[in-house]
Amino acid sequence: MTTAPILSVIDALPLPVLMIGPDERVRAANALVDAVLGGELVGKHYITALRQPAVIAAIAEVRAGEVLRVTQYTDRDGPKDTLYRVSVAAADGDIVLTFEDQTAAEEAGQMRRDFVANVSHELRTPLTALLGFIETLSGAAKDDPAARDRFLGIMAHEANRMRRLVDDLMSLSRVEEDERVRPREQVDLGGLLVSVIKGLEPQAKAAGLTVSLDLVSSNETVPGDAGQLVQVFTNLIENAIKYGASGGAVAVHLMPRAMHQRLRGEAVEVRVADKGDGIPEHHIARLTERFYRVDNHRSREVGGTGLGLAIVKHIINRHRGRLLIASEEGQGTTVSVFLPTAPPVS
Ligand SMILES: Nc1ncnc2c1ncn2[C@@H]1O[C@H](COP(=O)(O)OP(=O)(O)OP(=O)(O)O)[C@@H](O)[C@H]1O
Ligand SMILES: [Mg+2]
Repeated sequence: MTTAPILSVIDALPLPVLMIGPDERVRAANALVDAVLGGELVGKHYITALRQPAVIAAIAEVRAGEVLRVTQYTDRDGPKDTLYRVSVAAADGDIVLTFEDQTAAEEAGQMRRDFVANVSHELRTPLTALLGFIETLSGAAKDDPAARDRFLGIMAHEANRMRRLVDDLMSLSRVEEDERVRPREQVDLGGLLVSVIKGLEPQAKAAGLTVSLDLVSSNETVPGDAGQLVQVFTNLIENAIKYGASGGAVAVHLMPRAMHQRLRGEAVEVRVADKGDGIPEHHIARLTERFYRVDNHRSREVGGTGLGLAIVKHIINRHRGRLLIASEEGQGTTVSVFLPTAPPVS
């Protein structure tokens, strides 16, 4: 092939591609590779065009008879380094270099490492407490029934926390797994909210508040997964009880269906409002991250794992809905869930 058809072929590829001729000079380069290495590459010697020793060494190996070499190239221009995986392949006397951006894979790897670190840390705290009490109970407090009872109480509390964390982790992975499967049941939202609130009554009572339900729109059904929607509203109302208790009342509203611009169709809104301390603005966007808590200590005290809203977010995504958190410090928090009333188009 002459250079012109080669150029049109590599220009059509979605990756940065560079071709080096037998004369060691760049024979063709597509627009994407210009963006990585700078323009005007054609005709340059490959050492001048590429400059990074690892890539130059790989090219030398392929010139010496290797069929394929894979190496890395770091683009240091721009606000952040971009790491490319570069394959250097022999192609009928020429050498073809293909660049693949590794940033997304790197970030995914980083997220996975952070997640494992977080899980380990969250499990280690109650575990350390348990081990400490076991030691005390088998030593110093062996013959002290009063201390034993107290310690067993704390141990049960810590063990429960571990169980909740493991349950939440499993729930999160299940929810992530079927995020792409559209829910197909028809769910009666009013009935569902009544039963969720009933289930949380003891907790509300213990916190000294009442949860009111206002079915502005009764008899509202949406396509959904009932079990998962129970999880969503349980967490939101439980959060309002746990973190908004100072306000004394939690109000749940089921609003009539209305057009929702972002969802491009009709949606039903469920609003959970408390009059508690509220959430400082800069935390709000991060609340749905796994393990994110505004006040770690306080949340742990009330038994929170920080996974609740991450699970909620995944479930709402599966339902093609939206989650909106509005809060004002000292005034309270209102969380709205919008669920489309028509089945999602697959
Ligand atoms: N209604 C609210 N008022 C004030 N802060 C809230 C409210 N809802 C959530 N938060 C804050 O957001 C954090 C994250 O909530 P999330 O439901 O994800 O976790 P959690 O309740 O701590 O744990 P889990 O839900 O797993 O038991 C909470 O720790 C709390 O700091
Ligand atoms: Mg929660």
